[in-house]
Amino acid sequence: MSEFAVEATNVVRTFNAGSVQALKGVSLRVPRGEVFGLLGPNGSGKTTMVRILSTILAPTSGTATVDGYDVVTQPNEVRRRIGLAGQYATVDENLTGLENLRMIGSLNHLEKSFVLRRAKQLLDEFGLNDAANRNVKTYSGGMRRRLDLGAALMARPPILFLDEPTTGLDPQSRQDLWSIIEGLVEGGTTVLLTTQYLEEADRLCKQLVVLDKGTIIAEGTSQELKTSLGATVLSLTFHSTQDATRGLEIIRVISAKPANIEGTVVELTVDGGPSSAAEALRRLDAANVALAGLTLREPSLDDVFLSLTGHKTEEEGPATDDASTKRPVRNP
Ligand SMILES: Nc1ncnc2c1ncn2[C@@H]1O[C@H](COP(=O)(O)OP(=O)(O)O)[C@@H](O)[C@H]1O
Ligand SMILES: [Mg+2]
Repeated sequence: MSEFAVEATNVVRTFNAGSVQALKGVSLRVPRGEVFGLLGPNGSGKTTMVRILSTILAPTSGTATVDGYDVVTQPNEVRRRIGLAGQYATVDENLTGLENLRMIGSLNHLEKSFVLRRAKQLLDEFGLNDAANRNVKTYSGGMRRRLDLGAALMARPPILFLDEPTTGLDPQSRQDLWSIIEGLVEGGTTVLLTTQYLEEADRLCKQLVVLDKGTIIAEGTSQELKTSLGATVLSLTFHSTQDATRGLEIIRVISAKPANIEGTVVELTVDGGPSSAAEALRRLDAANVALAGLTLREPSLDDVFLSLTGHKTEEEGPATDDASTKRPVRNP
C-alpha cells in the first residue's frame, strides 16, 4: 500500500492544442486520513487536477496515483476507491433523495439490501430524513449538496474528492457541510478538497497547496503559510474613499509588503506591528488626513494569498446566485 492516498508528480494538462495551460507541472502528496486542501482562485486549475485524479481526464504529461494505483493505466482500480462530489450537484431533480441514492447504489452494483440500509443511514447522518421522500426539485442548495455528497459516499470510498463543495452556499449550509466533512475524516476517510475560501481551508485542512494559474505558489499547513508572511496586518479606516486613497499613498512607504484598499478601509501588511502603526499615524497626521479607526490583526490566509499573488482570491471568483456568499468570509 502506498504511503500516500494521492500522489501527483509534475502533472501538466493543456487544452486547445496547448494554447491553454491549465496545469503547469503540479506535484502533491496527500497523506491518509486527513483533509488536504487545493486552494486557488477561479481558473487556477483545481477542477482539472481533480478530474485527472478521478480518471475523467488524462494528464498531458506527468503521473498520478490514487491509493497506489496509476490513474492512466489502472483507472478501474482508482475508481473503486474514490468518491467525487462537487460544486454542481449531479443528483436527479425528478427523483426523491432516497431514490437518487438507490439509483447510485444500483449503478455501482452494490447489493440491494446494503443499498437501502446505506441510503437511509446517509440521509439520516446528513439531516435529510424528513426530505427523503420528496423530489430533489424541492431541495435547497445546501440540501442538494449534502445529497450529492451522500451519493459519492454510497460505496464507502476511502478517498473522497470534493471540488468546491461549499461554493455558492449560505453560511449555515457551509457550516453544516464542514461538520459533515470533519465527521468523515474522523471515520478514517481521506479528503482532497478544493476551495477558493481561505477560511474553509483554514478550518478543515491540515495541509494545503495554493494554486495560481496552474502552478503551486505555496504549500504547508495554514499556520505555516501565515507564519511565512511573518507579519501583522495594519487596518486603517478613513472617513471617505478619497481619504483612503490618499492615506494609502502616504503610508505605502512603510512596508514593501502588499497593501489593499476596499472602500474606506486600507490594509497594509507590516513587519513592525505597533511601531508601524505609530509611524502610519505620524505620517497621516503630518499630512492632515484624519482616521476613523485603526486595528492591528494577525494575517489571515486571505492576506497570505494577497501577499503571494498580488491579488485577492475572490477577485476572479465565480458569480453565484447568492450575493451574501460571493465574498469569502475573512478571518477576524
Ligand atoms: N475542457 C477545457 N477546454 C479548454 N480549457 C479548459 C478546459 N477545462 C479547463 N480549462 C481551462 O483551464 C484553466 C483551469 O480551469 P479549472 O481547472 O476549471 O480551474 P478551477 O477549477 O480552479 O476554477 C482555465 O483557464 C480553464 O478555462
Ligand atoms: Mg473548478
